[in-house]
Amino acid sequence: MIGLNSFTGYRFLSSCGSEYHVGGSCRKPLDLPGGVECVVADLEPPQSLFSAIKNFEPDFVINTVAIGNVDYCEQNRAEALAVNYEFPLSLAGFLRDEIPACRLVHMSTNAVYDGDHAPYREDAKLAPLNHYGVTKARADEALLREFPDALIARPITMYGISEDFQRANPLDFILKSLRQGKAIRLVDDVYGNLLFLDDLIAAMLGLMRAGASGVYNVAGAERLNRYEFGLKVAEGFGLDAKLISPCDSSAFPSLARRPADTTMDLSKISNETGFRPRPIREVMQTLAGVAN
Ligand SMILES: NC(=O)c1ccc[n+]([C@@H]2O[C@H](COP(=O)([O-])OP(=O)(O)OC[C@H]3O[C@@H](n4cnc5c(N)ncnc54)[C@H](OP(=O)(O)O)[C@@H]3O)[C@@H](O)[C@H]2O)c1
Repeated sequence: MIGLNSFTGYRFLSSCGSEYHVGGSCRKPLDLPGGVECVVADLEPPQSLFSAIKNFEPDFVINTVAIGNVDYCEQNRAEALAVNYEFPLSLAGFLRDEIPACRLVHMSTNAVYDGDHAPYREDAKLAPLNHYGVTKARADEALLREFPDALIARPITMYGISEDFQRANPLDFILKSLRQGKAIRLVDDVYGNLLFLDDLIAAMLGLMRAGASGVYNVAGAERLNRYEFGLKVAEGFGLDAKLISPCDSSAFPSLARRPADTTMDLSKISNETGFRPRPIREVMQTLAGVAN
């Protein structure tokens, strides 16, 4: 697992049970359950990371590393290209040359879609609106072309309870604000079938078990906007929904353009692996039960 501290990597570790013996890397030392091997290594230069991977003799290498801050990518274009595009390509080349039996699992994003033609199937034209999307789309296209055995999971925006050392996601922000009794505005003109982190992990495990390759959309069960999502969070956690008011995206000017509706068509992953994301209400009830 490259990026053990990521939202995805850290949860994968605690969710895969005994199915896989997981080891991985991150840039800073991290407290991990006993028995998990973690190498502290940067991507550049990649030699120490690559030799640690070789020593581990993995069946799969999952790359969760990315610069996902869309505005940061807009301002730091070369760095974003290096991490989001050049690194996965160099990793794929290393695996092909040095550990050919090992499968690469890479992660794409809904930001490769333009947001005007939802619902998106995997074969839709990639037309990213911002540099983050451009770097990720270039990686997807090059991997599909040059490394057809690679598996590319393409998740939409995810939510879940994050760790202190991770980036906040939409659920964290809403929960924190409502618990503090703080009024918030949420946009009602950005749509998607938001994905619960545990459903992403289930999808990845299902694809890995199926020996899948190529690209697979991964998203949640319901299309909704952020305001509607906020109301579901408030309802599930018994918090005051009146603190949330709707607004449109112009209320939050940002450097990078964002796609308006990247709702994904899930036929491919559902038909091939039986993937069934949970309804948001059910997820909230589970999370609220754990949190209370
Ligand atoms: N989260 C979402 O909603 C979402 C939606 C669609 C697609 N995705 C994709 O899913 C994958 C996993 O996302 P995530 O949210 O789980 O990741 P995340 O929590 O944002 O973690 C990103 C990882 O990348 C590492 N990283 C960032 N910049 C780096 C750099 N310059 N050099 C080396 N490592 C660097 C981070 O290490 P440090 O902590 O040390 O910086 C961290 O391990 C990514 O490919 C992302 O594009 C995520």
